[in-house]
Amino acid sequence: MNIVWATSESVPYAKTGGLADVSSALPKALARRGHSIHVIMPYYPQQMAKLNLKFDAVHEMLGVPFGDANEWAQIRILKVEKNLTYCFIEFNRFYDRATLYDWNGSEYPDNAQRFIFFSRAVMQTVLALGLHPDILHLNDWHCALCSVYLRSSLYSGFRNFADCRSVMTIHNIGYQGVYDQGNLYWTGLGWEYFNFRCLEFYNRMNLLKGGIMCADMVSTVSPSYAEEILSPEYGFSLDSSLRHCAYHGRLRGILNGIDVSEWNPASDQRLPAVFSPDDMAGKAVCKAALQEHFGLPVRPDVPLFGVISRLAYQKGLDVFADSLEDMLYHDDSQFILIGSGDPWLQGRFSWLASKYPEKFAAYIGYASDKISHLLEAGSDFFVMPSRYEPCGLNQMYSMRYGTMPIVRSTGGLADTVRNYNADDPSASTGFVLWDLNPVSLRNTIRWAGDVYRKHPEAVAQLRRNGMTADFSWDNTASQYEKMYRDAHQ
Ligand code: ADP
Ligand code: GLC
Repeated sequence: MNIVWATSESVPYAKTGGLADVSSALPKALARRGHSIHVIMPYYPQQMAKLNLKFDAVHEMLGVPFGDANEWAQIRILKVEKNLTYCFIEFNRFYDRATLYDWNGSEYPDNAQRFIFFSRAVMQTVLALGLHPDILHLNDWHCALCSVYLRSSLYSGFRNFADCRSVMTIHNIGYQGVYDQGNLYWTGLGWEYFNFRCLEFYNRMNLLKGGIMCADMVSTVSPSYAEEILSPEYGFSLDSSLRHCAYHGRLRGILNGIDVSEWNPASDQRLPAVFSPDDMAGKAVCKAALQEHFGLPVRPDVPLFGVISRLAYQKGLDVFADSLEDMLYHDDSQFILIGSGDPWLQGRFSWLASKYPEKFAAYIGYASDKISHLLEAGSDFFVMPSRYEPCGLNQMYSMRYGTMPIVRSTGGLADTVRNYNADDPSASTGFVLWDLNPVSLRNTIRWAGDVYRKHPEAVAQLRRNGMTADFSWDNTASQYEKMYRDAHQ
């Protein structure tokens, strides 16, 4: 199939979270299965110039209708491998920024314009490059408008789109792109699109809703999350639109995979030592290097708990902060946290790190690949107490590195982590809690620490189970292929 994959981020070009990992690994897996993929994303000079990319071509005059004007952008084209081409939309007024979406926790005030423009540019790129996609695969709200465009008279008449169907993947329903209705002006669409079956949402314009309502198929990134978002508790007010999709058989939950070549403890050059299920000696070297890097006492015997995350409400790390001080005061355990986001939480973690420097280290900011891989490899446990988690990648990275996840049972975490069973750990991979409050999180962390100290044979079993589980994309790429075919039914 010819697939156009639209996204606002993709590794290694620009990343704020898991969307970038998925937008790199899944297109690659699909290309290797014989499909032809064009990934279209913005060109962010401040993030990408340092990569010194050697572009294969530049399409200089990409006309993009925007409001009543016609703007001119450029397409930078990069052939990454056979069947896989990246098209970067260069338009500095919108994408030449220090960060992708927000500054100090506040969204850029022109985000509606920035991503309406991007959506329109995706459609124009298909025309300008003479592509004939079978599938327009849209990821999250930033490009959701494309599925509305595809059904609109603005594009439905073009032969390039004659056989095209759209698939809308929701990576996180907590971010929808909701803006004042006056922004409809920038889209070039008429008011007939501003109704409850399309873009209208409590009198405002909701880009993700438009994408969901107009896409031929809608998917999200784990089976459990696909069920959760049908309820008011998890649906962020889009649950009724999603129930409508589900009722018509248009909603799927397909579990994310991970890039097993990037995340492979047996060959990871970023680590001070490699290891595998049959030879775990290197993991102890990684643990010592991690403790040393973060200034904690280098001790092999103490359980080490790691966290690497956006500090957002979704991730439940405020509860972790509430549970932490009691453990720092009483327990012989170590904790390392890497994260950025909520300024108040950043401050709290920094304060705890300065109060308990022997037990807790925090790096507030975005860590390099080298350090994030070291944290996955060197920790004994990885803590993810998410309020909701569409899929989550870190628990899978952890398991692959023999690090046992401690997770709240929600979304993709519930689908990927098997709770420790003391009587029969043959299928267990981690530790699971259900109620998110400081006491239950603390109890689960203490339970895990206890197992670490008293049952080394169980720990070895859990590690092996996680390291040998199959989280590769090949496992799930075929489900995307099926969804693409079903979109054409
Ligand atoms: P989400 O996309 O909701 O943030 P995921 O678990 O799917 O959650 O993916 C998060 C990705 O972002 C992982 O690759 C993780 O390592 C990375 N990440 C998050 N915060 C940081 C940070 N402060 N420094 C480095 N990498 C980070
Ligand atoms: C989102 C979700 C995360 C998921 C990622 C990739 O950022 O929060 O759970 O793993 O997208 O699909």
